Order: sequence, then structure tokens, then C-alpha cells
Amino acid sequence: MTSYSRTSPYLAPLIDRYRLNKSGSTKETWHVSISLGGSGITFRPGDSMGVCPENDYGMCEAILQRLGVPADSEVQDPRSQETFRIEEYLRRKANLSVPTRKLVQELVVRGATHLEELLKPEQDEQFREFIANHNVLELLELHPEAHLGVQDLVQNLGPLLPRLYSIASSQAAHPDEVHFTVSRVRYEQHGKKRFGVASHFLCDMVKKGECRVPVYVQQTKDFLLPEDNQLPVIMIGPGTGVAPFRAFMQERFARNSPTNKNWLFFGERNHAHDFFYEEYWQSLASKNLLRISEAFSRDQEEKIYVQHRLWEARNEVWQWIQDGAHIYVCGDASRMAKDVDQCLQNIIKEALQISDESARHFLADLRKQKRYLRDVY
Ligand SMILES: Cc1cc2nc3c(=O)[nH]c(=O)nc-3n(C[C@H](O)[C@H](O)[C@H](O)COP(=O)(O)OP(=O)(O)OC[C@H]3O[C@@H](n4cnc5c(N)ncnc54)[C@H](O)[C@@H]3O)c2cc1C
Ligand SMILES: NC(=O)c1ccc[n+]([C@@H]2O[C@H](COP(=O)([O-])OP(=O)(O)OC[C@H]3O[C@@H](n4cnc5c(N)ncnc54)[C@H](OP(=O)(O)O)[C@@H]3O)[C@@H](O)[C@H]2O)c1
Repeated sequence: MTSYSRTSPYLAPLIDRYRLNKSGSTKETWHVSISLGGSGITFRPGDSMGVCPENDYGMCEAILQRLGVPADSEVQDPRSQETFRIEEYLRRKANLSVPTRKLVQELVVRGATHLEELLKPEQDEQFREFIANHNVLELLELHPEAHLGVQDLVQNLGPLLPRLYSIASSQAAHPDEVHFTVSRVRYEQHGKKRFGVASHFLCDMVKKGECRVPVYVQQTKDFLLPEDNQLPVIMIGPGTGVAPFRAFMQERFARNSPTNKNWLFFGERNHAHDFFYEEYWQSLASKNLLRISEAFSRDQEEKIYVQHRLWEARNEVWQWIQDGAHIYVCGDASRMAKDVDQCLQNIIKEALQISDESARHFLADLRKQKRYLRDVY
């Protein structure tokens, strides 16, 4: 056992990174692999890794310029009481995406009196909107009249939290590596370009041989392959949700007597551009080790999603469930996982000719037996 954790992560070198979408895609999803070297870290397919990201260096520099202080000024972390160089603190420790109420209050005290109005209780909604639309740098730049010292700033920043990523490789296939499938978060807000901290760090900032990726294992409670390598598995993973299933398949085929009853439901926008790991899936399918159902949502006018493919194949899906299949769902929690859940209920309802409520109970029972498992975010 190793003792790496969110407060003491392992610093993993980048091995490789390449874009999983082909040119012409409307999305940006990357394969990122890092080395575990001789760290002794072990994990199971189904586990995730916590990544402790760094903030964009340009943004940190611009904050230092605004404060007019050298990069090596010392500050104390208000939470751990540790001493840091301000540059390092801004990169690794501070949430620079969302200003805190305390920071706005501090700016008022330091001369940004215009902001006082926003702090009134009746302005709560406007305050929330304001901090959702401004990062720390923008807030400081909007108020050059506020004279803030480095420690005044640090004292009033939130902590930079780790982000979780499903592990997309198995140690049976890649003993000293961890692979991730990362969707790069980028969007525009009121004409300003925004990006997600950790996905920007992983997909752009980390350079081979230059900086490392701080990581630790976040063990899953139950999103695990069945012990019995003969039991069928149905894996439903559109988008980055496919990541753990690459690990599952690598693991299954490294173990003894694997079943060929492995069924992947994968969906993305376009077949031509967004079929992540297509070669790997096709190589398994060509040996009759994997069945693939594809749902490319934007290849035709009507959206086709994984649940549509599940429903089309409902008789066989039901047969697999009767044969003891374990069902896994990974990816978007807000829409996909709910719709897939409803679809599974409908399949059960039709197969058994039972009520909605009984179908819900049936599915809940599969959950209790750890045969219906979800890792959704
Ligand atoms: C168990 C688990 C496993 C996961 N596995 C993976 C994985 O394998 N691959 C993967 O890519 N992710 C995965 N995630 C999600 C991942 O942890 C991060 O949440 C994701 O990468 C975004 O982090 P970020 O730091 O890049 O973005 P952040 O800096 O956290 O920014 C994201 C925020 O940006 C805002 N935002 C995003 N898009 C828009 C928009 N269009 N308009 C307005 N605001 C917007 C939202 O407020 C959102 O919360 C997983 C999450 C969990 C919990
Ligand atoms: N917390 C965060 O900050 C954060 C950041 C990044 C990602 N995420 C989550 O991770 C998820 C995965 O992102 P991703 O980029 O890998 O892929 P995704 O957005 O989930 O898209 C993958 C495929 O799923 C389709 N889809 C959309 N709605 C669906 C539904 N109701 N049922 C089934 N399929 C549906 C999409 O189709 P269309 O697009 O054509 O409709 C697309 O073809 C995101 O949706 C998001 O919830 C969270």
C-alpha cells in the first residue's frame, strides 16, 4: 500500500497525450497517459484518480502584475499555515475561477467602495451572478483602486480542489501507467473565453519532461468487474464515459477464461470524428470478443442516443440480464444516466409485463445485488 493522497499526491510524469477526435470534430477529447514509475501505486479497473491541477500560468502572472509584487514574495496558507512563494501558491493552491464573498469584502475595505452595494443581503442574486461571471483576475483588474497586499489576497481565496478522472487502463495491460480520457472544458461567457482548470492542465499545460501531474487513487466502492470472468457485462458509456470500459476489457482479457459476452454501448457526436479508441474496440469485435452498439447523435437529423440502441436491442438485453449480466453506466449524470435508467426500466417492464413501480423495484434489486452499477458525474 502507498500513502499518496489529495494532500500528498504522487508526481507522475506525462508519457503521452493525443487527441481522440479526428480533425473536423466539434469536440476536444484527449487521451492522456502518465507514468507511475516505481511508485508502488496499485488500482483496480473501475477506480478513478484524483488530479490536483495547476492554474493557468498566464493568469497567475497577471495577478502578480496587478498586485505589483515579486513572484517570490512569501505568503502563508490560511488553511495549513504552510509558507509558500506567492507564485506557487497561486498556481497550486488557490481557486482563481470563483472569487469568494470574503474577497469582495476585503476589496471594499481596501478601497473598492463601489462593490459595497453588491454585499447587501437584498443583492444576493446579483452577487451570485457577479461572481459566476468574473474570475479573481477580472475582479482585481476591475478594481485597481483597491490596494491589496499578497497576504490579504491569499487570506481570502478559496482552495483549489482536485478533480476526479476515471482510469482508462488496466495494470494487467499497462503495469506502470495510468490512462485518462479527458474532455476539454471550453466555453464562452459574455464574450469571454473560459476553460476548465483541470482539463486545461491535463490537455494543454502539462509538458513531457517539464512538469508532473499530481495524482492519487480514488477507489470505487462497487464499480467493479464481477469476480467471475464468465459473467456477461453490458457497458453503457457515451463520451468520456467509455474510459473505465477500456480498463475493464484490458483486465478481462488478461484474466483466465474470459467470456466473449461483453457488450459496449458507445455514443458521441459523429462516427467519422468522435469514435474514441475505435481500433481497440474493432480489434476485439473482429475476434468476436466484444459486441458494439453505436449511437452517433449528430450523424442524422434525429438524435440517436445509447438508450435508443438499448431499446432497439431490448429482447437481447433482457436475455443478457437473465443470463446474469452486470450492467454498468458511466458518463453524464444530469441527462444520460437518467434516460438510460428509464430505458432499462422500460425494457424490464415490457419483458415481464409488470407495472412501472415493479420495474423500478426490479432495477433497484439489481442495484442491491451490485449488478447495476453507475459511475456518473
Ligand atoms: C467519479 C468521476 C469521474 C470522472 N471521470 C471523468 C473522465 O473520465 N473524463 C472527464 O473528462 N471528466 C471526468 N470527470 C469530470 C472531471 O472530474 C471534471 O469535473 C471535469 O474535467 C471538469 O473539470 P475542469 O477543472 O476542467 O473544469 P472546472 O474548472 O471545474 O470548470 C467546470 C465548470 O465550468 C462551468 N461550465 C462548464 N461548461 C460550461 C458552459 N458551457 N457554460 C457555462 N459554464 C460552464 C461549470 O460551472 C462547470 O462546473 C469525472 C468526475 C467524477 C466525479
Ligand atoms: N462537472 C463538470 O464540470 C464537467 C465537465 C466536463 C464534462 N462533464 C460531464 O461529463 C459528461 C461527459 O461529457 P463528454 O464530453 O464526454 O460527453 P457528453 O456531453 O455526455 O456527450 C456524449 C454523447 O452523449 C450524447 N447525449 C446528450 N444527451 C444525452 C442523453 N440525454 N442521453 C444519452 N446521450 C446523450 C451527446 O449527444 P449530443 O451532444 O449530440 O446531444 C453525445 O453524443 C458531460 O455531459 C458532463 O455532464 C462535467
